[in-house]
Amino acid sequence: MEVIITNDYDSLSKMAAQYVIDLLNRKPNAVLGLATGSTPVGLYRELVARYREHKIDFAQVTTFNLDEYVGLSSDHPQSYSHFMREHLFEHINIPEQAIHVPNGTTTNHEAFCQWYEGEIQRLGGIDVQILGIGGDGHIAFNEPGSSLGSRTRLKTLMEQTVVDNARFFDDPGDVPRYAITMGVGTILEAHHCLLVASGENKAEPIAQAIEGPITSLVTASALQLHRDVTVVLDEAAASQLQLRDYYRWVHVNKPSPGDLDWHRKAETQAEKSRRSTAEEL
Ligand code: PGA
Repeated sequence: MEVIITNDYDSLSKMAAQYVIDLLNRKPNAVLGLATGSTPVGLYRELVARYREHKIDFAQVTTFNLDEYVGLSSDHPQSYSHFMREHLFEHINIPEQAIHVPNGTTTNHEAFCQWYEGEIQRLGGIDVQILGIGGDGHIAFNEPGSSLGSRTRLKTLMEQTVVDNARFFDDPGDVPRYAITMGVGTILEAHHCLLVASGENKAEPIAQAIEGPITSLVTASALQLHRDVTVVLDEAAASQLQLRDYYRWVHVNKPSPGDLDWHRKAETQAEKSRRSTAEEL
């Protein structure tokens, strides 16, 4: 797991966006796993800005969102579908048919969830899955207690999540109690995971997820089992990490290509000393 600690939300957003930009430049038909929530908004803003500067192109990209509220149609202002259009899709050249957000109004949840999983696999899997983390350590809507092998399914939200989300609804009675969410197992199959977290209220769940035991009580901790995870934090979100100085050290000393080529370096050194001995003679 690579942990990158940035100064503030703005640098975090730029750094996380750079991962996506590099991916799209390497693989223009990449499959992106997208997340909603306030944290990735800055990352999406960066992507839109780079798109406007013609630095990236979404014409061949496919996206899969992590989750959606059950009962909200895609045009409901609080639906995740609406959120994604507002923050990203409306501003870039992604074809409508390449966008996948779970259908919150399906009448057959099971069939829909199976289809969603099948589509991800049919397209070769998710190249990079963007993730936020909830105050209780959840990823997507995998609330505490979710199986770490879970797949896309209908999930009953925790009371605390319902309370946290109530601020977005005029009538607290309208806050959805269920969601369709990718499972922890689905997320772990993404080729690369990019977790972003900002602010002091994320310091504890981040410390638990990165340095705590792997437990279904903190579903983000399952990312410790994934072999290619990048976590981009600001100072506040990193403040409870025991090894934060080490993570900074690792980042600053990240080897550039060739740095670890000890064998070649040793050969060059031997060649040099052979030459100077020959010159001396
Ligand atoms: P946030 O949500 O980015 O709005 O804090 C994260 C989450 O609950 O997954």
